[in-house]
Amino acid sequence: MALVSDVTFRKMRFDIDESVPFQWNAANPASGLMSNVISFFAVGFERYIVLAAKDALRIIEDADLRAEAEVFLAQEAQHSAAHRKHVNALIAQYPALGTTLDRVIAAYEDLYAAKPLKSHLAYIASLEATFPPLFTFMIEKRDLLYHGDCRVASLFLWHYIEEIEHRSSADIIFDGVVHSRWYRLRTLVTSMTHVGQIARLITEGIGAAVPADDIGVPPDAATMDMWRTELLAHLPVVSRFFHTGYPTLFRDVSGRRLVKLVAGLVRSQLPTHHPADVEVPGWFHTWMASHAAGEDMAHYCARSPCVRCGSCRCRTARPSRGSRSCACWGPGGWGRYISPNIRGCHARTRSNCCPRNGRPMRSTGTGSVGKLIWRRSCGVRTSWACTIGVRPTANSGSPWTSSTGSTQGGS
Ligand SMILES: [Fe+2]
Ligand SMILES: [Fe+2]
Repeated sequence: MALVSDVTFRKMRFDIDESVPFQWNAANPASGLMSNVISFFAVGFERYIVLAAKDALRIIEDADLRAEAEVFLAQEAQHSAAHRKHVNALIAQYPALGTTLDRVIAAYEDLYAAKPLKSHLAYIASLEATFPPLFTFMIEKRDLLYHGDCRVASLFLWHYIEEIEHRSSADIIFDGVVHSRWYRLRTLVTSMTHVGQIARLITEGIGAAVPADDIGVPPDAATMDMWRTELLAHLPVVSRFFHTGYPTLFRDVSGRRLVKLVAGLVRSQLPTHHPADVEVPGWFHTWMASHAAGEDMAHYCARSPCVRCGSCRCRTARPSRGSRSCACWGPGGWGRYISPNIRGCHARTRSNCCPRNGRPMRSTGTGSVGKLIWRRSCGVRTSWACTIGVRPTANSGSPWTSSTGSTQGGS
């Protein structure tokens, strides 16, 4: 009898349509971009999982192992469909992104045709093993990483919760079919290289299809290169001389927490590691309890309701004292005016955190490709805790480019 986990399939629907902006997370645009990349990736990868799980089911005879594979397959198929909905919404706004999705799916179909089943199960088990430490981190830091459009944040947080729930499934199926953890270790580099290639493919497609101002950060902020960037941005002394020119994904996360994350990722690939041993975050139980209580999980971000904007539909409000608006994404909320509002927050943040350095260190380029480079202590502490106070008609364009003109917002 195979060792099995306790996983449940739950039918979910999310409120995602063409009104979801590409940059849905203005407070952390690198996170918004990364999430969009994950959506493209998930459509291809989880479809690949479904193919492999179906082929594995043809040779699995153990009843418990079959049950594990079936519920794993069902959850992943639903993940793929939910992310497809998000990707379709983005493609409706930027039709050229359709080519990127086609290339991701083709890349996984080519991989599936080229290698044996045990290779696919090893790839899936290796990548799924990284999810408990990675998504536990994402969930714990959700206020920093997912403070944006709650419709999108809810989709990702649900996915992360279910990835943690079925964290052992791929491991159990691989052990039940292939019986060789050393084989998985041998294929690890090939598998992770392929993941990196897919991420590069997606970011290149996004860079070609979506205007830079709509992305908000350079497209390669969501490739594997980001780990090198985060390392340099967090290293003592080195970080003083390392300037990205944009707010990095983990800028507000401590170096100690990032070291813990990387250690967890490395540990997840050891042959002696079992994903079931990873402790789940406390919010996992909160989410499960809320779902069991019948709450609206399509708009579930665990934030306080907006106290200023009665029409807020997504409960991601951050009251902005002294301003005419609020920080929610509902009608009238500041989410409709991403650029000028972040610009206003920059001005305020700079004046608060480093009054002696209220001017950019230097600027590069002009127009839509120009950038203002701030000192790290100023430029990377961006808007999400700031008061909003800029007229929405001030201008358009990315807050990270010189096209925004003066950075002195406020009213
Ligand atoms: Fe998934
Ligand atoms: Fe999964």
